[in-house]
Amino acid sequence: MGVDRITGSAGKIAAKISEHYVDNARILPWRVPPGQSGGGIWPDPYHVWLSEVMLQQTTVAAVISYFEKFTRRWPTVASLAAAEQSDVLAAWAGLGYYARARNLHKCARYIIDNKEGLFPQKESELLELPGIGPYTAAAIAAIAFGERTVVVDANIERLMARLFAIDTPLPAGKAGIRVAMDRLTPEQGAGDFAQACMDMGATICTAKTPRCGDCPVQSLCQAHALGEVERYPVKPAKKTKAVRRGRFFWIEDNDNLLLVTRPGKGMLAAMRALPDDGWAARNDGYAAAPFPGKWELHENIVQHSFTHFSLEVDLAVYHGDKIAINSRDSRERPISDAIWWPIRELEHAGLPTLFGKVVKWKLKEQ
Ligand code: ADE
Repeated sequence: MGVDRITGSAGKIAAKISEHYVDNARILPWRVPPGQSGGGIWPDPYHVWLSEVMLQQTTVAAVISYFEKFTRRWPTVASLAAAEQSDVLAAWAGLGYYARARNLHKCARYIIDNKEGLFPQKESELLELPGIGPYTAAAIAAIAFGERTVVVDANIERLMARLFAIDTPLPAGKAGIRVAMDRLTPEQGAGDFAQACMDMGATICTAKTPRCGDCPVQSLCQAHALGEVERYPVKPAKKTKAVRRGRFFWIEDNDNLLLVTRPGKGMLAAMRALPDDGWAARNDGYAAAPFPGKWELHENIVQHSFTHFSLEVDLAVYHGDKIAINSRDSRERPISDAIWWPIRELEHAGLPTLFGKVVKWKLKEQ
């Protein structure tokens, strides 16, 4: 089953997917409509790059407003390069996977400093830029510059696995999936073709309850013929996630809340945040308060899932005035890079979602 059966039907499948895209392409702010690139109208590579970075592990619906906010505020790669990292991180708040925002900013600066402000056009050259991996390099080269690359994201992975009933569990199954996409990808219009496959994966060949009745290649789909579409792609056995515990500190003084900038390395690096007790992917926090006093503890208020672990957070609250944040006796979590932030302005602080959840809980409590 699978890859050895691709060649015969490849041309037919590719043609039907491309035809379907002409009338069904999603209109998205970083795209040009289907076929335009063949006529010499290309999307802005800055827009393609920005959208592809935002779309990693994030849905189109969640990305659109961030993409519009970023391009309004930083309309060119030069303006993004000139921005402060803290502003880029704050604008990214809520999208998650913050390493993407730090790399985005680093890459913009690299392009200005080393590439005369112009994106390289070849997949192999794009791969040399900081923060650009194989998927993003292939997608930018195809969509913005017309190179015939093989683009495989999670939507395309699912579509290929089903079309050719590739039953090797992921991640080993990725090799066969890539061969399948390579056989289907046309010499001209690889960018449109990749986006056609992404759209099919997002709207028809969905992970749950796929809409096979609307699929232009239903009659050519091996998983459909076997009557087991939802079995593909075959996933590896699930590992249970470690659960870590952490404590956040709500330190309030005269309608202001004490926020910190997290260290430049580690989880949520360089993001603005509430002070915490040093929880990390590999350890629980130390639960020690940053200074002695009358703390009020709220137990297990928020649960948050990271890729490799989930975190259970409780919250210790301190109200007082004239808090001397440097006179403290805990060695585990010195409070540094601290700032008093007006509580009624917290939504503009650029807090990551985890901290946003805690703030929402606390403000509801008050
Ligand atoms: N997901 C990742 N890249 C995409 C794109 N260019 N269009 C739609 N969905 C995507």
